[in-house]
Amino acid sequence: MCGIVGYVGNRDPKFILYEGLKKLEYRGYDSAGIALLQEGEIRIKRCEGKLDQLKAALEDPHFYGTPLDETYVGIGHTRWATHGRPSEKNAHPHQAGSIALVHNGIIENYSELRQALEKKGHVLHSDTDSEVVAVCIFDFISQGHSLERSVFLAVQELLGSFSLGVISQKDPQTLIAVRNGTPLILGVGVQENFIASDVPALLPYTKNFIYLEDEEMVIVQKNRCVVKNFKGKEIQKQIKKINWTPEMIDKGGYQHYMLKEIHEQPQAIIQTIQDRVSKDRDTLYLKDLTLSENDLRKIRKIFLVACGTAYYASMEGKYLLEKMTKIPCEVDVASEFRYRDPLIGKEDLLIVTSQSGETADTLAALREAKKRGARTLAICNVKESSIDREADSTIYTYAGPEIGVASTKAFTAQLTVFNLLAIHIGLVLGRLPKEKAKVYIQDLVRLPITVEEVLKQEKEIQKIAQKFYRKKTFLYLGRGTSYPIALEGALKLKEISYMNAEGYAAGEMKHGPIALVDEDTPVIILAPKDEHYDKVISNLEEIKAREGIVIAIGCEGDTKLSKLSDYFISVPQRSENVMPILLTIPVQLIAYTIALKKGTDIDQPRNLAKSVTVE
Ligand code: AGP
Repeated sequence: MCGIVGYVGNRDPKFILYEGLKKLEYRGYDSAGIALLQEGEIRIKRCEGKLDQLKAALEDPHFYGTPLDETYVGIGHTRWATHGRPSEKNAHPHQAGSIALVHNGIIENYSELRQALEKKGHVLHSDTDSEVVAVCIFDFISQGHSLERSVFLAVQELLGSFSLGVISQKDPQTLIAVRNGTPLILGVGVQENFIASDVPALLPYTKNFIYLEDEEMVIVQKNRCVVKNFKGKEIQKQIKKINWTPEMIDKGGYQHYMLKEIHEQPQAIIQTIQDRVSKDRDTLYLKDLTLSENDLRKIRKIFLVACGTAYYASMEGKYLLEKMTKIPCEVDVASEFRYRDPLIGKEDLLIVTSQSGETADTLAALREAKKRGARTLAICNVKESSIDREADSTIYTYAGPEIGVASTKAFTAQLTVFNLLAIHIGLVLGRLPKEKAKVYIQDLVRLPITVEEVLKQEKEIQKIAQKFYRKKTFLYLGRGTSYPIALEGALKLKEISYMNAEGYAAGEMKHGPIALVDEDTPVIILAPKDEHYDKVISNLEEIKAREGIVIAIGCEGDTKLSKLSDYFISVPQRSENVMPILLTIPVQLIAYTIALKKGTDIDQPRNLAKSVTVE
């Protein structure tokens, strides 16, 4: 979704803003722009397309910031189109009279506001909902209000979600920022302060952040920031220190973030497990889980809610939690759960899973469940994100920053957390035998090394995958805990290669998808040696009988599977709980290889955004 960066301080912000936007590229965008104050006038450069185009425009020697009393201000934006197609005129910043504005979110009542403003004689130039906000603020300024007051009055008129950054010719040492429903943070520096949609944009400049809440606005100046709520009351905020480094958000020599993040999975799992396992590997410490044994005993049902890849992780969560805790679980995509009047109440636990912690539907689902009295737990990768802050407790996936739009290391870290959680609750409730738990914990501890072993086969997997980059349709099949991995494999391929890929429960084959199978259809079959193995083999035979091309992913030494399939990728055999994690690595590498061969934009696939902050 759109990315915002803003600056007030003692340096020309032109390239600070540009570099900040570069760090937000992962959010997905189709146009970009920057506004500065130059000799007291607002100057804007914006263009359709990628930041390289904007960079070329910024090279213009006549475009630069000038200070007033050694203070520069500027705002920058990457736009992910919602209202109005990607084009220069729809790109941000939008200027209205003496102000310029950037916006992330959706203004639901924009067409009524637009009509009212046009009636008053304002002329709007773009098709966006965002320009309406700029004109609305300027309308208040024209009535004689200050910049701060005009922003304050304008936000009272807006319905929907919005983060804003506003600068003004008449108040050239101030930046006003607003957060309501989409993320915005404040970076606190020395003689300079910043705003951004996400931490990576500001890491080269500061490690000190203030996290804004919804319905808050902040008056940002070089040496101070004043936060107020939408009623105008000043709020004291804490500065939080973050321990991410700029290196963590580099590509580290890899061609793409996605590939780097695939290779970071052993480390992500180590970080997620360490400090949570006892020395003799029979107990887990989940300090972040604030539910007591008594609370856990009272849970009637667990609802697992998320979007996209995190939803598939939640499907695995259901298998694990039901097996080890015997508590009934229900899984839902957040966009359905939030609107379906869910039968959730105070005797239930909601677990939301989210890498970013900002996904609009997941956040709304969390709020809905809280409203209905449910206990809430988040599995989240980003500390201080909205979901982290609003859930009763959070178990972190310590995967580190994930920049590639296609989620990889966050997914396997989420599966790791579900393992930890299910074992822990199973033990606490006495529903998982201790000896069994020990085996599971042992496999979790060895998991990073096992994942390394799978990653070592990268070359062979690539060799197989690249044969298929011209195919039209792919099928991914699995049963039991391999079914969510089939869905995830298909999603990965779809997202980054733009090819048609469908994931199915293998048992559903005969109910439709088998019609797609012919000699031109690669079918990726996940066939670990579990209780479903024989049935999956029968499905494989059915595909072969229809001349489909079978790429099987199964356990090391499975000669039967290897013989029956056209191509065979093996992973080490471990306990059934960690097999989904091992099977995930080949499906990620298959998707990456095919996309690489096709030459698509792997880290920022078209139309996609890393954190989907609008519904
Ligand atoms: C995964 O590859 C996707 N880009 C997407 O499905 C993602 O998992 C989904 O948008 C949820 O994001 P979140 O984990 O940040 O909530």
